Amino acid sequence: MFNKLQISNFEIENRSVRAATATGNCDKLTGIPDQKFYDIYESLSRGHVGLVIFEHAFVSLRGKADHNQLGIHDDSMTQYHAKVNQIMRAVNDKIRTCCQLAHAGAACSVENKINLNTASVQELDEVVQQYKNAAIRAKSAGYDCIQIHASNPFLLGQSISPQLNSRSDSYNAQDFKLFRQVLDSVSGILPIGVKIQCDGLDAENTTVLFKLLKEFKFHFVEITGSNQIAPVRTKVDLNGDQYYNQKVIMKLKQMHLDQPIIVTGGFQTVEGANIALNDGADMVGFSRKFLRNDKFLIDGDKLECKKCNQCFKNLFDYKESCCVSRQAKII
Ligand SMILES: Cc1cc2nc3c(=O)[nH]c(=O)nc-3n(C[C@H](O)[C@H](O)[C@H](O)COP(=O)(O)O)c2cc1C
Repeated sequence: MFNKLQISNFEIENRSVRAATATGNCDKLTGIPDQKFYDIYESLSRGHVGLVIFEHAFVSLRGKADHNQLGIHDDSMTQYHAKVNQIMRAVNDKIRTCCQLAHAGAACSVENKINLNTASVQELDEVVQQYKNAAIRAKSAGYDCIQIHASNPFLLGQSISPQLNSRSDSYNAQDFKLFRQVLDSVSGILPIGVKIQCDGLDAENTTVLFKLLKEFKFHFVEITGSNQIAPVRTKVDLNGDQYYNQKVIMKLKQMHLDQPIIVTGGFQTVEGANIALNDGADMVGFSRKFLRNDKFLIDGDKLECKKCNQCFKNLFDYKESCCVSRQAKII
């Protein structure tokens, strides 16, 4: 876990990743972060995590998923992203940061949402341009890389899903057209990662994942299990670890890919993460665990995440996603 890793043009101090985790600490109309947001990321920086993937940031107001979601939809937002990067680097100049770009498509909370199945070509062209603009802002704000959020049911997740994409034109599920256009538009701005959700080897998204990895070359790929559905337990629990995507990692290893893989989903401990690293993953992502204890990599870690998912449910009640078991304030 504590070995370095080179991704594209930057080095990461160790193999731990704070997987994207919406904090619910942004203004509900503008997406501008509040003070708590900065405090959370500053605190995370003190915990020796290698790569912090920021919570999903909407690339346009029509792509806004949650009430209190972070925005990167406008040039005026760059200053807030720059500020949080500066705060984090002042604490730990080796920390690496990733801006997650998202368009929630039909899953948006706004009225004029875009459903891939009925969207006009012009609307989709606008989305492609919005991703490009957001990536340029991410670069000026000082992030090391971007991550394209392509999990279901967001717009790009929908576009690559045979179940959710019912278009029969060139934007059909098999040809990955929108996905390809978005990748082309952000290419060369910052190193690019992609996040795909796949729960178990036979799931639809896993098939899509293998096809995507054959057709595209990313700087890194994150595969995750859902925090909402029953996990596919493939490894005996170890101090509460449930390694949701072990079968996928084993299969990916056989594909001999040369792009780094982050596996996320169910991990609680360094020991559990080491199992995934030994299986061939390059990095291990933790989301709920960091909400429970953002110093678990360095403090002897006695705090267990109960996986109650109240953190996630809070977001839907327009509250912060903080852990209900976490007694302490941000330290
Ligand atoms: C409160 C909460 C907020 C999340 N926000 C995001 C997000 O903004 N973007 C994203 O890609 N995934 C998000 N996720 C999913 C996590 O990144 C991760 O894939 C999932 O929780 C499984 O990892 P875990 O078992 O370590 O929690 C969120 C999860 C939680 C619990």
